[in-house]
Amino acid sequence: MSDLNRAAPRIVACPNGPLLVRGELDLVTPEGDPIERKRRTIALCRCGVSSIKPFCDGTHKAIGFTTTE
Ligand code: FES
Repeated sequence: MSDLNRAAPRIVACPNGPLLVRGELDLVTPEGDPIERKRRTIALCRCGVSSIKPFCDGTHKAIGFTTTE
């Protein structure tokens, strides 16, 4: 699929939670290696404590992670 045919990604910052990424978007490590996506919509950790980074594992709830408006 060419880049022109890819749906534009949409990123939503969930209050007190992860970043939800919908649509086509390549995830890569800081070294540029691809990170496999298993779902079209993914949740990226922004609290820093997930055991499956870069993905959210729900731990933000247990630690009381909060965000500001
Ligand atoms: S945002 Fe969910 S575990 Fe970090």
